[in-house]
Amino acid sequence: MKSILVTGGCGFIGSHTCLSLLEKGYYLFVVDSCVNSSDQVLRKLKNLSIINFKLKYLKGDLRDISFLRRVFEEAKKCNKPISSVIHFAGLKSISESIRYPLEYWDNNVIGSINLFKIMEEFSCRTIVFSSSACIYGLTNQTFINEECEVKPTNPYGQTKVTIEKILKDLFVNSLSEWKILCLRYFNPVGAHHSGEIGEDPIGVPNNLFPYISQVAIKRRKELDVFGSDWKTIDGTGVRDYIHIMDLAEAHLAALEYLFDKKKNFLVLNIGTGIGTSVLELVKIFEKTNNCKIPYKLKMRRTGDVGSVIADNKKALAILNWSPKRNLEDICKDGWNWQKNNPYGFQK
Ligand code: NAD
Ligand code: UFG
Repeated sequence: MKSILVTGGCGFIGSHTCLSLLEKGYYLFVVDSCVNSSDQVLRKLKNLSIINFKLKYLKGDLRDISFLRRVFEEAKKCNKPISSVIHFAGLKSISESIRYPLEYWDNNVIGSINLFKIMEEFSCRTIVFSSSACIYGLTNQTFINEECEVKPTNPYGQTKVTIEKILKDLFVNSLSEWKILCLRYFNPVGAHHSGEIGEDPIGVPNNLFPYISQVAIKRRKELDVFGSDWKTIDGTGVRDYIHIMDLAEAHLAALEYLFDKKKNFLVLNIGTGIGTSVLELVKIFEKTNNCKIPYKLKMRRTGDVGSVIADNKKALAILNWSPKRNLEDICKDGWNWQKNNPYGFQK
């Protein structure tokens, strides 16, 4: 079975994807600096995939190119040369990127360039890259497709566009044949149904779903709903929430799609195509989990937009994949994780 390098494999999306890959029998090399995660998650992955736990963790930072070289060398030495990469590692907070742009350019772009250099050095040219829906500019279209204008409004989004451009350059200009898939995620939420792994934000959650969960577990008093005057069904912001395991499975499909190709560069939206408002999500969470989420309507959050929903037709047509879980599954599984682990991986 092929060996896959998963950068950022200890993080939210990376850890769930590792589980899907392990279940399929892949041998994994996980590289993570744990700047925004805990390697405790690997213990949970081991428990969840008893038979198939073929994973080697190497703690380190992508900005350290000699560390990356050692990872590829080690894989070669133990006769498991890395055939492809799923590249999750990166900083991801929009607001933090506005405050610390240099940190974001350094971490996300320099880290990625190092990775691509070492991949080239070891003739490993198959990669699935984590991009984001936040790279799209403002549009009047209800559903955002891959042809919509790319015009990010913050440094985080700029780093994602830049990395996509570097990958495109490699595809167009490199003498060797690169196989590249950039997945533009919409809003990944929820947790693995076991309640063993899930999202574990450090500090106060920036995002809606973990905030709701922390209100439910009474770590936070109430939810601030940012904006109730958007042109949406109830005035609150609408997003396309995708179950984390559906997203994990999209990575598996993306990787296996690339295996069959010769040369490839593709960007795909990964979402459900269904929009849900903040208050709709609150209601579904309350009903599914029989709890109360107190909330207050507040001013709009700076930089927010009213509605972001994926046109996911291209991904459905190209990958042998479609999202299978609904909002009730998201709320049930997310709550299962939160109530089993009120303080995430720490306790
Ligand atoms: P996360 O923070 O949970 O995971 C990212 C992981 O990368 C963390 O474990 C972190 O420690 C690691 N990391 C960061 N910089 C590193 C470096 N230089 N070297 C080694 N490890 C490093 O985030 P996530 O939600 O799992 O997101 C994964 C990827 O998907 C990110 O690139 C993010 O930008 C992208 N993305 C996330 C969302 C979302 O809403 N979660 C949406 C769109 C795109
Ligand atoms: N919201 C609240 N209260 C909160 C947090 C969020 O009302 O405490 C609202 C927001 O205003 C928005 C909706 O909930 O209307 C969703 O907000 P999130 O912060 O959960 O998600 P965003 O769509 O703003 O951004 C997320 C990630 C980005 C990623 C983007 C992709 O944070 O990194 O999805 O679409 F790029």
